[in-house]
Amino acid sequence: MATDDPIEQAVTILHRGGVVAIPTETVYGLAADARNAQAVRRVFSIKGRPANHPLIVHLHRIEQLSDWAVDIPTAAIRVAQQFWPGPLTLILPRAAHVIAEVTAGQSTVGLRIPRHPMALEILRRFGDGLAAPSANRFTRVSPTTVAHVRLDLGESVDYIVDGGQSEVGIESTIVDFSQDPPAILRLGGLTVEDLEKAAEISFSRLNREATVSPGQHHLHYAPQLQTLIVDSEQLAATAMERARCGQKVVVISQLPRPVDLDSLNSFDGSQAAISWWQLPSDLNEVAYVLYDWLHRVDEQPFDILLVDLPPAEGLGAAIRDKLRRAAGQG
Ligand code: TXA
Ligand code: MG
Repeated sequence: MATDDPIEQAVTILHRGGVVAIPTETVYGLAADARNAQAVRRVFSIKGRPANHPLIVHLHRIEQLSDWAVDIPTAAIRVAQQFWPGPLTLILPRAAHVIAEVTAGQSTVGLRIPRHPMALEILRRFGDGLAAPSANRFTRVSPTTVAHVRLDLGESVDYIVDGGQSEVGIESTIVDFSQDPPAILRLGGLTVEDLEKAAEISFSRLNREATVSPGQHHLHYAPQLQTLIVDSEQLAATAMERARCGQKVVVISQLPRPVDLDSLNSFDGSQAAISWWQLPSDLNEVAYVLYDWLHRVDEQPFDILLVDLPPAEGLGAAIRDKLRRAAGQG
């Protein structure tokens, strides 16, 4: 290609109907021209994603909303004005032209303006909507670095744009404004409390029993390693029990490695079989590293991952949700 500017290359390939992995502030996306059915179908086949899971269309300015959606409620405009560009996806009644490949045949469309500067520049130069799911194979952990994208999708994409590690680290929060009251479909990088404040109304909460959002599959964000959620108070004891049974254990927790883990452990040699990865105390930093760590557990010969859940305040609610899904308990 004539240019070595990665943004220019990405835009050229996208205009030709190609599929490009792009950085966003939440996770990397697998982008294609949202008006090109063939390009969008390739996104589904690369991901191994069932066709009934709709894609989010990414835009670069709020004025484009009316190209893609109709009957937009005031509350949706309020949150968009406050949080776009940013980790927020709005579900709205779709405009007539939006293709069924993007919406999975539904009457709504998901829309988001990401804030990663390279994503915004790609979208600006592309000039129209880009459909982009997270750039991972179906049910796997979303990628927050180019290394994750390469590992999972390798040569199957036409091009990968390197924008460094995703700053937020977990996906966008999804609010369905086609319902009244609006419904939270996915917890993510913005808290429900902050969104409700901006919207000046309350949302209905996710019903864990119902499959509210197609694609909110219970086994999502999952490492290949067997993952178990344990109460914080039981974490050390469970780790030792497993180690004594001969398992190589990795623990991911905000708690520090207990000092007595080493002393209690050393008599039977099981100490070496417990790796303890302490998460940062700040929940923003937990979100930033979480998916990278969930990728890393698969790089070593562990037998089991034990995690505990942070308190449900602020971003903690979303992190708990991601960890439950990693353990197949979404
Ligand atoms: O942060 C993000 O949102 C990332 C980055 C790349 O923007 N994208 C992302 O896309 O997480 P994906 O496809 O992995 O997850 C999008 C979720 C899916 O669960 C999908 O079912 C839901 O959004 N979704 C999309 N359009 C929808 C619609 N019209 N109605 C209900 N749910 C929808
Ligand atoms: Mg995804």
